Amino acid sequence: MTIATNTDTSLSQALTKAHEKYSGKNPKSYEAYIEATKSLPGGETRSSIFIHPFPLFIERGQGTDIIDLDGHTYKDFVSDFTSGIYGKSNPVLKKAIIEALDNGLQLGAHTKAESLLSSEICSRFPSIDLIRFTNSGTEANILAISIGLHYTQREKVVVFKGGYHGSVLSHFGEEQHQGGGDLKVPYEFIVCPYNDIAGTSSKIQDHSKDIGVIIVEPMLGAGGCTPGEPEFLKDLRELSKKIGAVLIFDEVQTARLSTGGSQKLLNINPDITTLGKFYGGGFAFGAFGGKKEIMSLFDARQPNSISHGGTFNNSPLTMISGLTAITQILTEDNLNKLNELGDELRNILNGIFVKEELPFKITGLGSINQIHYIPIMSLENKREGLDLFFFYLLEKGFWIAQRGLISLNFEMTKNDIIEFQDAVVHSARAVKKVISELI
Ligand SMILES: Cc1ncc(COP(=O)(O)O)c(C=O)c1O
Repeated sequence: MTIATNTDTSLSQALTKAHEKYSGKNPKSYEAYIEATKSLPGGETRSSIFIHPFPLFIERGQGTDIIDLDGHTYKDFVSDFTSGIYGKSNPVLKKAIIEALDNGLQLGAHTKAESLLSSEICSRFPSIDLIRFTNSGTEANILAISIGLHYTQREKVVVFKGGYHGSVLSHFGEEQHQGGGDLKVPYEFIVCPYNDIAGTSSKIQDHSKDIGVIIVEPMLGAGGCTPGEPEFLKDLRELSKKIGAVLIFDEVQTARLSTGGSQKLLNINPDITTLGKFYGGGFAFGAFGGKKEIMSLFDARQPNSISHGGTFNNSPLTMISGLTAITQILTEDNLNKLNELGDELRNILNGIFVKEELPFKITGLGSINQIHYIPIMSLENKREGLDLFFFYLLEKGFWIAQRGLISLNFEMTKNDIIEFQDAVVHSARAVKKVISELI
C-alpha cells in the first residue's frame, strides 16, 4: 500500500516503508476500510479525519487512549479536532446525559435547559446579548453570515486566506488542498490576506459599500494554527465599524482559550460570535449570538421576524450536556491549566527543534497546536516530511492528526504530556536522519 510521491528521494522511500509497516500492522482496519468503500465515497464521511493510505478504525476510547480494531492502543492527542476536550467518558457529563435520557430523548418543545445554557453563554461573552443554537459550527457560521447580510442589506463577505468556517466555508490556498478543492456556499466572497491589514484594506477598497460581513477566526485553526496578531484583529474591528459591516468572530475553536474565548483575552467585542465543538458537551452543536439589534431580528413576537428552524437546535441531550459542561467543567481554573499545559508543550518543543536543528515547528495558542514540517531542501516534499513524522509517532503509540493538529483534553496529565514530548522529539530526530541521507 503506497501513495504516489513526487520525487524518488530517501524521504519518499522511508515513507513507502512506513506505509508498508502500517499496512502490515493493521489488517482489520484495512478490511473494515475496504468494506466501508462499498457504501461511502472513498470509505469515509468526514474528509478532515481521513488518513492516507487508509484510516485506522477505532473500536473504543478509554481515559486518554483510543484502541483500534487490531488491538493497538494510542494516546489520543487529536481529541476529536478540539471538540473532545472532555476526554472519552467524563463522569460528570455521563451522569447528566443518563439523567437527561431518563426524561426523554427528544421532546420537540421548549425546555428550561436551552434558556439556562444560553444565559450561561451570554454571561461569559459580553459581546453576546442574545444567542441561538444550531447543529454544527458550519451551520452557525452560515446563519451568522446570512443574518449579517440581511441586517446590512449588502451582498459581499470578507473572509481570509487559510480561514475555515465549515465544510462549505473554507478558504484554503491551493497549497493547503489535498484534492481538487471544496464546495462553497454561493456568497460573494472577497478573500483577503490574514494578519495583513494593509493588504485587506487595499483588497476591499472598491467594495466597501457592498461589504455586509467580515468573518474571521482569531486564530486560523484548520488553516494551520496561525494566531491572529492582536493589532490585526483590533484593526479589523475598526475597519468593520468604518465601512458599516458586521464583524463575526468565529470562535468555534478558540472559545476554549478562556471562559470568554479569544475575544476576552484580546478585549475586542465583535458584533456576532460563533461557537461549536465542545460547547455542546460532546454532542453535535453550534451557536451564533451577538448584538441585540441584530439577533432580535429572529424574535418571533415581532412583525416580519426572521425564521430559523432546526429539528435538533434545542436537543435536550445537547442542552443538558452543554449546560453541565459549562457550569461544572469549563471553569476558569480548568481552562487555564489546560492552556498552560499546551503553551508549555509548544515552547519546550520549539526550543528543542531550534537547538537540535530539527526541521519542525509548532504553532498555536494554549491547548490547540499544530506541528509543521519545514523542508531543508527544495526537492523535499513538505507533505511527505510531516507524513513520515506522523507514522513514526504512531509507532510510538501517539495519535495526532495526519495534518499535524495536536489538541489537548482534560484527561491528560503532566506525565502524558512529557511522554508525548519525548516521542515527538524522537520522531523528529528520526525524520531528520532520513533527510540527512539526502544531503
Ligand atoms: C474555526 C471553525 N469554524 C467552524 C467549524 C465548523 O464546525 P463543524 O465541523 O461543527 O461544522 C470548524 C470545524 O473544525 C472550525 O474549526
